[in-house]
Amino acid sequence: MKILVTGGAGFIASQIADAFINEGHQVVILDDLSTGFEKNINPKAKFIKANICDKNLAELFEKEKFDVVNHHAAQMDVRRSVRDPEFDATTNILGTINLLQNCVKYNVKKFMFASTGGAVYGEQDYYPADEQHNTKPKSPYGISKLAVEKYLFFYNSEYKLNYTILRYANIYGPRQNPFGEAGVVAIFSTRLLKGEQPIINGDGKQTRDYVFVGDVVKANVITLNDNNSDIYNIGTGIETDVNQLFNYLNKITNANKDEKHGPAAPGEQMRSVITSEKIFNKFGWRPTTKLEDGLKATVDFFKSNM
Ligand SMILES: NC(=O)c1ccc[n+]([C@@H]2O[C@H](COP(=O)([O-])OP(=O)(O)OC[C@H]3O[C@@H](n4cnc5c(N)ncnc54)[C@H](O)[C@@H]3O)[C@@H](O)[C@H]2O)c1
Repeated sequence: MKILVTGGAGFIASQIADAFINEGHQVVILDDLSTGFEKNINPKAKFIKANICDKNLAELFEKEKFDVVNHHAAQMDVRRSVRDPEFDATTNILGTINLLQNCVKYNVKKFMFASTGGAVYGEQDYYPADEQHNTKPKSPYGISKLAVEKYLFFYNSEYKLNYTILRYANIYGPRQNPFGEAGVVAIFSTRLLKGEQPIINGDGKQTRDYVFVGDVVKANVITLNDNNSDIYNIGTGIETDVNQLFNYLNKITNANKDEKHGPAAPGEQMRSVITSEKIFNKFGWRPTTKLEDGLKATVDFFKSNM
């Protein structure tokens, strides 16, 4: 198959592109390198440096005749979305509509979308959340991801464009960018490896569902041929708080730091955890990487790349 991977210079989608190439698919990567890196781009992929909002993308779609678009390019900083909702909506909603219009015009069969199982559900009514849980996003980022999900229902019913929506929990692993505001595993790992003190926001009791990037890649590979146009949670169902995470990483890096707490981040969600029973029942997908093993692999990556 010929697959367009947007955001393929980034943390997650670069590893999805690698897996698709290993499976024998032809991959074109579209990325503006705003947060991604050229070194992540698989040399066997064709690379187009462009913004998903670019109106000239029609030429690329016309020429390449993609079978599938795997869409990961996004403004993915929750706090930036609060500061600048217009930028968030321009990239995440209008940029995606630009891709979808081209999919319809140039007969793309399927659209895969990286949504979020944290920001789309908001503060949960029950734990872990399944796909039926109410969607109550608390940030423009969550709203823009949910809006794209709704657009996908529309493009499917109006134009028969198949889709797969993967609602990711908190993904961590090699290639995660440690320079942003998000990505606590990458930030703590690099700080501890440099002998610096990581600061835990608030009391550190806020929980997340941490899923290893290698498991997320497998979920993309497994659903590539699914034509049921459905939504799947991609998480572990296990809650880990920031203090626990700090203590694991402190041990793995032998940094011997004490827990240090700073002010709580305003508006931060306190608990987030999702169940992936649906995709397990349908495709047998289940995360297989234990947190301690994934954290070790992540620390090893940062050690050899610093
Ligand atoms: N990391 C997580 O825990 C997580 C959780 C839920 C959902 N997601 C989603 O997964 C996707 C990938 O996230 P990531 O963690 O790999 O982030 P990332 O920043 O490493 O990757 C995003 C990539 O998209 C590119 N990009 C950004 N805006 C673009 C634009 N307008 N045009 C073209 N390229 C653009 C960036 O340069 C980067 O390479 C995002 O859609 C994000 O919302 C991530």
